Formats: sequence, structure tokens, C-alpha cells
Amino acid sequence: MSDLSRRDYLTLAGGAGAMSVFAAGDETDRARRMQWWHEAKFGMFIHWGLYSVLGRHEWVMEQEGIPVAEYEPLAKKFVPKPMPMRDWARLAKRAGMKYMVMTTKHHEGFCLFQSKLTSYCAPERGAGRDLVKEYVECARAEGLRVGFYHSLMDWHHPDGARCATDEAARRRFVDYIHGQIRELLTQYGKIDILWYDVAWPLDAAGWESEKMNKMVFGLQPDIIVNNRNKLPGDFSTPEQRIEAAKGAAWEACMTMNDSWGYHAADDAWKSPKTVVRNLVTCARQGGNYLFNIGPKGDGSIPEESVKILTAVGQWMDRNAPTVRGADPCRVSRSNYCGFTRKGNTLYVHVHFWPGETVTVAGLTTKVKSAKLFASGKPVKFVQDDWRVRLTGLPAAAPDSPVTVLALECDGEPLQDTDRVRREKPRGGV
Ligand code: GLC
Repeated sequence: MSDLSRRDYLTLAGGAGAMSVFAAGDETDRARRMQWWHEAKFGMFIHWGLYSVLGRHEWVMEQEGIPVAEYEPLAKKFVPKPMPMRDWARLAKRAGMKYMVMTTKHHEGFCLFQSKLTSYCAPERGAGRDLVKEYVECARAEGLRVGFYHSLMDWHHPDGARCATDEAARRRFVDYIHGQIRELLTQYGKIDILWYDVAWPLDAAGWESEKMNKMVFGLQPDIIVNNRNKLPGDFSTPEQRIEAAKGAAWEACMTMNDSWGYHAADDAWKSPKTVVRNLVTCARQGGNYLFNIGPKGDGSIPEESVKILTAVGQWMDRNAPTVRGADPCRVSRSNYCGFTRKGNTLYVHVHFWPGETVTVAGLTTKVKSAKLFASGKPVKFVQDDWRVRLTGLPAAAPDSPVTVLALECDGEPLQDTDRVRREKPRGGV
């Protein structure tokens, strides 16, 4: 991390107090812990809980004003088929993803794991078994890293809201949540990611977030944590949008339709092309893409999600190296291409195929050779001060949903499109 970005990070962390969680030497330690994650770029988010039985979005309890007493009996109906996570993990691997993050408890308060702190958990209700244990086993079986999402906010716990105004309630509730995190990080071996969510209604002091992170790192020295317990953590979490964090790691999380949890009627599916484009946009700016599935109550994955991720996986079979392990890339402007980079190689991801010629404006680095990445076929090109034109290409896109061209350059590929605007010879009239 450069000095500048380190300074940005410190500012972001809110000064020395907040930084004490990551005391001296921790930048090196963070780089060590996060190396695999930076390399991975692509992960699967899984939202699964009692709301999956209803199939009307994971916020259904709140959005439809369902009282706890009426919602709770869903726990009897949540009886998943054996090891459905095997299919999730296989699909994730098929799609070129390298890690998974599953909801161990969403805002509804129902725990998918064995907890000694509540009986509102899968092993003690309809499911009769520890679903987190199954999930961990299935993810590991496919060689995927394991992440736990855990919502701090809890609509079921009696202290979940009054903890904001009642100190005794806060004490009980914070002990409950810290205790559950301890359970999660001691019952299943090595865990790679802890993904906190929604800290309402407390702030970092109220949650005792520093203590929380210290406990987490004490139990799992290699783990990485996100920023949703009101501390900056190891990475930030722009939601439903791609927004690079300055000088800090980030991961854009996104739904496949418009819901995180299973929503039977939500048909706002993203196309495989949109998914690939988003992944490329994240990789270009040094970020990760955490892409969600919302399995049904029985654990089966909606058919459309399988189709979309399978198509993405077929593209990844041919093109994953242009994304995975990519370095941040400073070339960005085009109306029909996205870009990634590895060292001096620029990958031009053409999502709207223009025909025989693909043009990139303002490259200030000299191109030495060009090829179609998937087939390895050489591509002719001409480069002048204003643009590089890749010529003699097929009229129709050779790959789908995005065709990747690899341009070997004589230094880090850089682009100055402003110069094109400023200095371009204005010919003719
Ligand atoms: C939000 C939502 C939640 C979802 C999460 C994913 O915080 O409340 O439903 O789990 O974002 O990032």
C-alpha cells in the first residue's frame, strides 16, 4: 500500500482509536491475510433463511409487518433437502468463483447453526440439523473459501431494538451477538471471511466493535472482516453498485435479480453479459464482485440463477485469467469495451462488438502484439498518436457474451483521452 493510500486508510479508519484493532505491523499482516481474496476477484453470496420459505424477499417480515409470533412457526417449515449446498458450491466453482459467503443469521434472527444461546436455530427446529456445518463441508469439498455473513440487527431477539435505549438490554444483546460470533468461529474450523451486516440500532461503541474484531482475530488469525460493524475492517462493501474505495480494498455485492433472498415473482434477472461486465469493471478497479443467489426453502437454486451462472462459467472457462489475479488498470474509456490488465498486458473486453475493427483511443503505451485471448489468434493492428485500431476481425463477435483481446504493451498500458480531445488534428472544414 502506498503512503498516500495508507494515509487515506487511516483517515477512513477515523484515527488512532479505530486503528488500534489493527495495531503496528498490521498493514503487512492485512496484505498476507487478503492475498487470496484479491487474487480471487469473484465470490458467491447466499441469502438463505426462513424468508426463503415464503419467497417474497428477505425483508418480508418487516416489509409486510409480520409479528414475531406469526413468523416464528416458519422455522417448522424450513426443512431443506440433504446437503443442498453441494449444488451451490459446484455452481460457484463452475462459474469461476473462489469463495462463498452464506447468511448464518439474517435480520429475521433465525440461526442456521447450532447455538447454545437460542433455540431459534435450525438444529432445534424443523431442519433438525446444523446447516452451517453442511455448508462449510460442501464449500471445502469444492476447494472454495468459506465466508460467514452475520446480521447484527435482529428482529426476533427481544433486546434487538430496545438495546438502543436500555443499558441492561444492550449488555444482554451485545453479549448474545458476540457469543454467536464466537460460536461461529470456534465450531467449524478455519473460516476465511466474516461478513457483518446492519449494525442498527447501535454505533461502534455500543456494539463494542473493537472488542468484537479483537475476539475474531484472536480466534481466527487468518480471517478477513468487512466494515459493517461500524469499523473499517479489511474491506468496504458497496451494495448494488460498483464503487472503488480509495486506497482500501473493496467488494461490490449484488443481487442476480432485485432480491437477496428467494423471491418467486422477481424476474428482474441480470443477463450473463451484465454479470461479466460487472466482474470486469470490479477487476479493472482492483475490487471484488460478490454475486448473490437466493435458494428456495428446500435449498434448491432458482433455475434462472443456474442458467445465468452456467453461462458466466462457460465464459470464465475461456477467459478467467483476464480477470482473476488482475492488476488495477488505468485504461477505462470506451463505449463498447471494458478493460483489465496484468502487468503490461491490456485485456480489451468487447461487450458490444463493432465489427471488423475495434478501436481504443488515447493509448500512450506502445502496443507490441495483439491477439484474441480465447483462441490465441493473432490480430493485426495499427497504432498512431491518437488510437490503436485492431483490424481484420470477424464481422460477428467471436466469443459470447464478451470477446477479449489481449494487447501486449511495452509498459503499463495507459490512456490519455483528454489529449485526444485537446490536440487531435481537426481535419477538413
Ligand atoms: C442489506 C440488506 C440485506 C442484505 C444485505 C447484503 O443490508 O438489509 O437484506 O443482506 O444488504 O449486502
